[in-house]
Amino acid sequence: MLVMVGLPARGKTHTAQKLCRYLSWLGYESRVFNVGERRRASLGAGQSHEFFDPNNPDGLLARRKLALSVLDELLDWLHGEGRRVGIYDATNSTSYRRQLVRRRCEAAHCEVQFVEIVVSDEAVVEANVRETKLSSPDYVGVDADHAAHDFRARIAHYESVYESLREEDGSFVRLIDRGRSVEMNGIYGYLPARIVFFLINAQTTTRQIWLTRHGESEFNLAGLIGGDSSLSPRGLQYASSLASHVRRRFADDSSLEIWTSTLRRTVETAAPLNRATLRWRVLDEIDAGICDSLSYQQIAETMPREFEARAQDKLRYRYPRGESYRDVIQRLDRVIVELERYRTPVLVIAHQAVLRALYSYFMDMPRDDCPHVSIPLHTVIELTPKAYGCVEERVALEPLVSSGSSS
Ligand code: SIN
Repeated sequence: MLVMVGLPARGKTHTAQKLCRYLSWLGYESRVFNVGERRRASLGAGQSHEFFDPNNPDGLLARRKLALSVLDELLDWLHGEGRRVGIYDATNSTSYRRQLVRRRCEAAHCEVQFVEIVVSDEAVVEANVRETKLSSPDYVGVDADHAAHDFRARIAHYESVYESLREEDGSFVRLIDRGRSVEMNGIYGYLPARIVFFLINAQTTTRQIWLTRHGESEFNLAGLIGGDSSLSPRGLQYASSLASHVRRRFADDSSLEIWTSTLRRTVETAAPLNRATLRWRVLDEIDAGICDSLSYQQIAETMPREFEARAQDKLRYRYPRGESYRDVIQRLDRVIVELERYRTPVLVIAHQAVLRALYSYFMDMPRDDCPHVSIPLHTVIELTPKAYGCVEERVALEPLVSSGSSS
């Protein structure tokens, strides 16, 4: 269980949701449990700051009851089949409260890791209040200045009792000022370390990530999968349409990064851009193993069992001596962390299965839907990740192609 810690308006919910998306994408079934939402659902939104005053015994009792009922719900959920990570999204701002949480978790045989978010820059807090808190259901119909004033008073109540994590709290990571500094204690094992690694790299920056498949290849024309063929004449035309589109949108913005796989068709698609490109082997298409260079029809005829097994469960099906979508997701973990870390726009020229996996991360899709996302040829998918969610625009460029199911 991941237990968020921090004063209000520090970005805990944003971080919790981002972690949940990342872990779910990697295959660890995860869910966020938010105490503020439970308060609004149980008591109705709109408590004024007095409710959060630690000297208000009724408020204190009500808040503790709500927090513990959400915790119990999380622990129940976590015991269900296949559940891996519950994220407890609340302030958990005193060591007394954290001990209470820890004891309940230990009794339920659940491992706890705290994630503390510290923001020392008042301007960042003020921006968070203005951007997210004032539009919360707590302040519907309330004048913005009055709401901001009330929320600041709520923060002050929490500040008056706030205790930062200490060694005695056990396993934790503390992120200070959006990763300017990171402190850790008692982080052992693969998953806790992955979580810290992700948190260190995840940035909150709004910049574009463009995804496109290579131009039509000779193998696409022949209806064959895999291989390492060159672009067809139409594929070459797409490469120049793409270069013009990039020039129109980015002019001489040299910050744009261009990443391709190591396969000919993506390298040739990037060529007319005339910019430095980074070639990643991890961006190569799904390895179709013994089915590489065959058509789907040939696979259906010569290996009907394989064909059927893939149709039944495309996410988990692994080509003999090749890969599954799940394998592709695992190897793209590194690319996701890099995309999260970069503050500049990135154009990724890759392949259908690889782009489905990247796209499903940014769009927070259920894992089983990933192998079915439509990623047509000759289309640029322009993604703009925002604090909550991702805005998408699709731009189809000439020459258009009607199909393109092979990779
Ligand atoms: C809230 O009720 O909005 C948050 C409760 C808490 O985590 O302190």
